[in-house]
Amino acid sequence: MAEALLELNGVVAGYGETHIIRNISLSVSKGERLAIIGRNGVGKTTTLATIMGQTRQHAGRINLRGEPLDRLRTHERTRLGIGIVPQTRDIFPSLSVEENLIAGLRNGSSLDEAYDLFPRLKERRHNGGRQLSGGEQQMLSIARALLGRPEIILLDEPLEGLAPVICEMLMDVFKKLAARGHTMVLVEQHVGLALKFADRVVVLDQGKIVFEGLSADLVGNASRLDQYIGLSAAN
Ligand SMILES: Nc1ncnc2c1ncn2[C@@H]1O[C@H](COP(=O)(O)OP(=O)(O)OP(=O)(O)O)[C@@H](O)[C@H]1O
Ligand SMILES: [Mg+2]
Repeated sequence: MAEALLELNGVVAGYGETHIIRNISLSVSKGERLAIIGRNGVGKTTTLATIMGQTRQHAGRINLRGEPLDRLRTHERTRLGIGIVPQTRDIFPSLSVEENLIAGLRNGSSLDEAYDLFPRLKERRHNGGRQLSGGEQQMLSIARALLGRPEIILLDEPLEGLAPVICEMLMDVFKKLAARGHTMVLVEQHVGLALKFADRVVVLDQGKIVFEGLSADLVGNASRLDQYIGLSAAN
């Protein structure tokens, strides 16, 4: 078993006094692709926000490379190597594409890395953030997170609301990143695509893990998928 890069152990967290995620334990090894799936409102975003230090953590431990993160602020976690592409698509709408990317440069990263991955962003580099399509905004959000040179990247429903052709294109990019050895956590409601992409999968329901195992074990198990997320979602 490869060494855990990111580890959550018995984590309970929420907003204020409310407990949204309850006793979450999971680990991600270097180079691994983990999918987190589950119905709306089960705590997927809250799990990622907790890893980033954006919720109130009531119990448990979060470690990166064996070092505790629990007391660190979000920007310190980012600096230690956790990148996130939030569900809300984190771009500055008043800045151009290029200015958004420049804001993400770190550790000798260069704009060309973003433009090689997303040639479309190069074509649009002088456009303002708010002039971009949903797909282009998502490309920008992903590209900017990558320019921070994260050791692990958390993607929160990157395909949400995007046309099928854009979803395919983004999945191709994720596969390319995975092939380059990036460690990735993908939260998705496009369950079929997520399972095809990931090595392992965690299924959340009401803030708890109800399944954890190899994606291959869940693919093709229609009754289990139906039980966890509803068959209609399994596409
Ligand atoms: N900032 C917040 N303050 C209080 N409660 C919140 C906040 N954000 C989310 N919640 C609540 O926490 C629960 C889990 O929400 P969360 O966003 O983590 O779910 P999710 O699995 O990401 O759902 P979706 O698939 O719709 O994105 C929901 O009941 C939601 O209403
Ligand atoms: Mg969410």
